[in-house]
Order: sequence, then C-alpha cells, then structure tokens
Amino acid sequence: MSKVAVVTGGIGGLGTAMCKALIEQGRRAVAVDFHGLKPEAVDKWQADRKSEGLDIPVYLGDVTNFESCAEVCKKIEAEVGPIEILVNNAGITRDALFHKMTPEQWDAVIKTNLYSLFNMTKQVYEGMTARGWGRIVNIASVNGLRGQAGQTNYSATKAAVYGFCKALAQECVRKGVTVNSISPGYIGTEMVRAIREDVLQKVVAGIPAARLGEPSEIARTVAFLTADDAGYITGEDITVNGGLYYH
Ligand SMILES: NC(=O)c1ccc[n+]([C@@H]2O[C@H](COP(=O)([O-])OP(=O)(O)OC[C@H]3O[C@@H](n4cnc5c(N)ncnc54)[C@H](O)[C@@H]3O)[C@@H](O)[C@H]2O)c1
Repeated sequence: MSKVAVVTGGIGGLGTAMCKALIEQGRRAVAVDFHGLKPEAVDKWQADRKSEGLDIPVYLGDVTNFESCAEVCKKIEAEVGPIEILVNNAGITRDALFHKMTPEQWDAVIKTNLYSLFNMTKQVYEGMTARGWGRIVNIASVNGLRGQAGQTNYSATKAAVYGFCKALAQECVRKGVTVNSISPGYIGTEMVRAIREDVLQKVVAGIPAARLGEPSEIARTVAFLTADDAGYITGEDITVNGGLYYH
C-alpha cells in the first residue's frame, strides 16, 4: 500500500510540484487547500492533473484553524488512509515596511505560516509515533534565514520554522518520525512572478545561479527528505536557493 502524503497549499505553485514528486516516489498524494478558493479553480486544477494522468484528491479547509485541520485530517484518514507524510507548505505574504504594517497583515501571516504548523502536525503526530514511522517537512524560506525588509511578519514565521523542527525532531526521532525543513530561495511561482518586474530583475541579478528556481527543484528535496531511507536526517534545514544564502 502506498503511504499517504498530505501537502498543505497543495494546489499552489510549489504544492502542485510536490504532489507530483511524491506520486513519482510511489506515494498517495493528497492536497489540502483553502476552503475560500473558488470551486472552479479547484475543479480546473483537478482536471489539469487528470489530463496528466494524475488522480490527486483535494480536501478544503483552513490551516489557520485547529478545528478545520482536525476535520480535514479525520476525513482524509477515513477516506484515503493514515497520514504518514505531512508537508506543511501552505503560506502567504502580506508585505509592508514595518512602520506601515497593520495588525491584520501581521496576524494573517503569523496564523497561516506559523499556527498552521501546530494545527496540522497535531492531527497526524500521534498516529505517526504510534505506528513508528512518519515524515514531516515544513517549508521555510531564505527570507527566514537572512531577513528581508518589508517582510518582518513573513521572516518571523519562517525563522520560527527552524525552532519548531529542531525541538520536535528531538521528541520523535526515536519513534521513527523525522521533522525537517526546506528553505527555498526565489522560485518561479505566481507568488514570485507577482513581484514588480523591475524589482524581480534586481532579485535575479543578485542570485549567483542568475535564474529563479523551478518548483520541481523544491519538490525533489521534499521527496528526498520523505524517502523511506531518510530516517537519519532530522532537525535539519536544506537551502535550495541557487547560492543566494548559506547557513
Ligand atoms: N515561491 C517561492 O519562491 C517561495 C520561496 C520561499 C518560500 N516559499 C514558501 O513555499 C510555500 C508555497 O509557496 P508557493 O509559492 O507555492 O505559493 P502559492 O501561493 O502558489 O501557494 C500557497 C498555497 O497555500 C494555500 N493557502 C493559503 N492560505 C491557506 C489556508 N489558510 N489554508 C489552506 N491553504 C492555504 C493557497 O490557497 C495556495 O494554494 C509557502 O509557504 C511559501 O512561503 C515560496
């Protein structure tokens, strides 16, 4: 039986590539995404995947809300199977220089990018430790490592990912569960392509690789960290950023 792998933000730019990479690795990928999305957008995403020969169930919920995560995970476990791999990938930006940042921008990012780690991981953790096997991957960012002007909210949440991973990794490695993170640099998804053209050109000029990353380059790292034989890698962060920043 294929292991069930849940990807939050699974129908987004990186999430889609992650679902595909997990399927290639023999997993049963399941996408969890935001219940506020237009149904047509979800239908189109599923139809596009079908045309690629991929059948990926989508469950809608809200990773900022504990009860919603409980409901979604319960449904997935009843309908697809026990969740053995969790990729906490859903994330948003609400950029503003600090002196202009509103409490709403702060809260939205903290809740989506940070509370989500607790809300989703809580639903699957007991099952993973009880079964003696699990893989948890949290998506951080180069801007959590180095900070980024205009992103105090976002940088704070992404830096928090490392503390979460390192602490939880120590609690569960003896139970066969690993907890790691990936810090992507600038990847060519909608989130990044939405950056103003002149600003984006400057960003790319500053990347030693002189290009944006591909979603598949993040996805292959997810596959690597969630592999059956990756059980000795835990509490670690892998940067995938074209040489932009090291730690
Ligand atoms: N694209 C990049 O260059 C880049 C760089 C560094 C880190 N990241 C991180 O990678 C992750 C994915 O980014 P992306 O570029 O694919 O973005 P994206 O906007 O394409 O995808 C994010 C997905 O998360 C979902 N989502 C948002 N709020 C949600 C909620 N409350 N509940 C459930 N789902 C919700 C969205 O609907 C969307 O499908 C994010 O955590 C982001 O911070 C991206």
